[in-house]
Order: sequence, then structure tokens, then C-alpha cells
Amino acid sequence: MKTKLDELSLEAKKAILQAESLAELNELRVKYFGKKGLITEISKKMNTLSPVDRPIIGMMVNSVRESIKDQLNEKSKEIEQGILKEQLAKETIDVTLPGNPAPIGSVHPLSKVTQELEDIFIGMGYSVEEGPEIERDYYNFEALNLPKDHPARDMQDTFYITEEILLRSHTSPVQIRTMERMKGQVPVKIICPGKVYRRDDDVTHSHLFTQIEGLVIDRHIRMSDLKGTLLQFVQKMFGTQTQIRLRPSYFPFTEPSAEVDISCMFCGQAGCRICKNSGWIEVLGSGMVHPNVLEMSGYDSTQYSGFAFGIGVERIAMLKYGVNDIRNFYTNDLRLLTQFNHI
Ligand code: PHE
Repeated sequence: MKTKLDELSLEAKKAILQAESLAELNELRVKYFGKKGLITEISKKMNTLSPVDRPIIGMMVNSVRESIKDQLNEKSKEIEQGILKEQLAKETIDVTLPGNPAPIGSVHPLSKVTQELEDIFIGMGYSVEEGPEIERDYYNFEALNLPKDHPARDMQDTFYITEEILLRSHTSPVQIRTMERMKGQVPVKIICPGKVYRRDDDVTHSHLFTQIEGLVIDRHIRMSDLKGTLLQFVQKMFGTQTQIRLRPSYFPFTEPSAEVDISCMFCGQAGCRICKNSGWIEVLGSGMVHPNVLEMSGYDSTQYSGFAFGIGVERIAMLKYGVNDIRNFYTNDLRLLTQFNHI
């Protein structure tokens, strides 16, 4: 009996040592302590022993049982700890590894230029006004001194929705709406940024484009105010060396009217492809508000005068960023658009 117990103890020790998983340990537990387990079997046989042997063997069985139990517990703790360690090692985050880049968007170059333009004019005391892109013929044309049969309506090839409703061809209707709302009060000093629509489409014209128009009305507003304002604007936008030139022009809503050129920043006026060798680049239209326009929107033209200007945002952005096809702004090609992230 004693040798049998010794053998069993040795064998158990070996098996426990070699066990690699909790499942294996469980099997061993059953093998020794289960209903038909080896230790259980031996315990059952105790009553067959002589009263002399019984306490001695009993003690031995007890000590073997306790020792195997201890070893099993020890080993299972060891395995559990191993599992935990392995798990921790697996879940460790190496903070020195490069992360997965999350692409961030960028501000569209047109939005950027629009914001810059707005900032310049807000800095000069202007406020920003907006209006509908689907507009009434009255605000887009008639109130701007362009009655129905006026030949100058052809200057802007317009998308009509009905005879009276159209896609605005400029942001000037916002100026009319603002004047109506102000009911003859002065000063009016606003800029109107927004999308406008015309039926043309080539490398420098898009059927949808962005304008910022400005309007100032007060007493004693003169052409020199317009000129000073525009000079200030272009120098802020393109640098203090930039000069402007006003050329006589025609718009039905302004009189006199002027087209405004800026000195070519690409060649320093030596003449290049962009300024078509003239040293000047056309950037905007402007003029003194026509008395008819003032009167129609409730301003007494004998007391008040004003100036207005219209800037093409794409044109400014093309010059500023050296983009040579206006359609690049609308094709949403990220290779192009993301280049302006840091400018
Ligand atoms: N509304 C004109 C256009 O879109 C621009 C302009 C505005 C001209 C104000 C003069 C004065 O063509």
C-alpha cells in the first residue's frame, strides 16, 4: 500500500508539472479526486486494513491527498498568471508606433478667398448681407434700372425658371433687398457674397460662380471714395505695391461706371501671358449708383449718393493661387484642393 501511494504521489507530481492548461489540470483533479478517482478509491479501501495499519496508512493518504491538492492549486495559479501575462503583453499599446492617419478636410480655396475678402471689408466697416439664389426678375433686373426690354439684359445670359423667376445672375439683388429694408436710412455699407448663375462655360467662365458685391450709400459719397476703397482692398489682397486703373465702362445700374484693373503681379507690369502683355489685369466692375436705382428703392437721389462694385471671387482666387482653369474649383479633385491647406 505504501509503495502504491508513493508511486501515485510521484506520478501525480509529474503529471501536474507537465500540465499546460487549466483543462488538463481539471482532468487530473477528476483522475485523483473524482468519484472514481485514484485517491477516492484508496480512501474507500481503508476499512479493509487492519486496525494497526489503518491510522498509519490513513495519515499517509491524507498527506498525499493534501500534497496533490496543493500542487494542483499552485499549478493552476501559475497557469492563470501566465494567461494574464500573455493577455497583457498582447494588449500592450506601443505608443511609439505611427498612428493611422485620419485625413482631415481643408477649406475650399473659394471659401478661403471669400473669407479673406469679407475680412478686408468688415475691417473697413462693412456688414455682410445675403439673399436668395432663386430670385425675382424685379430684384435681379428691374430695380437695377434694367426694364424688361433693356438691351443690357443680354450682358448676363440668365437662367430663367419662369418669366418672373430666375437664378440670380449677380448678387446685386441683395443690395436692392437691403435698401428696401433700410427704408431710406443711411449709411448703407454692405457686401453681398454668394453664388450666381449665368449661361456660359469656358476656361475662365463657369455657369455657377461666386461674387462679392459692395454697396455704400450716404451723403456726399464720391467717385474718389470708390477709388480709395478699391485701392485699399487690392493692396490688402495682393500687396501694397499693387496699383489700380479705372477704365470707363457701362452698367445700367451705375453712372458713371468703371472697370477696374490691377497692376500685373506676375510680371511686375513688364508684360506676360496672364496680363496679355498689357501689364494690367481686369478684376472687377464698379460705378456710382444710378439715381434711378436709388429712387426705386426709396432713397432721395438729390440728397444721397453711393457707389457699388462687383468682384468675381474665382478671378481673385485664380490670380492669388495661380489656377488657370476656373473649372478646377468645381471638379472636387482633392489633389488640387488640398494644396491650399497651408496657404
Ligand atoms: N453686377 C455687376 C455684374 O455682375 C457687377 C457690378 C456691380 C458692376 C456693381 C458695377 C457695380 O456684372
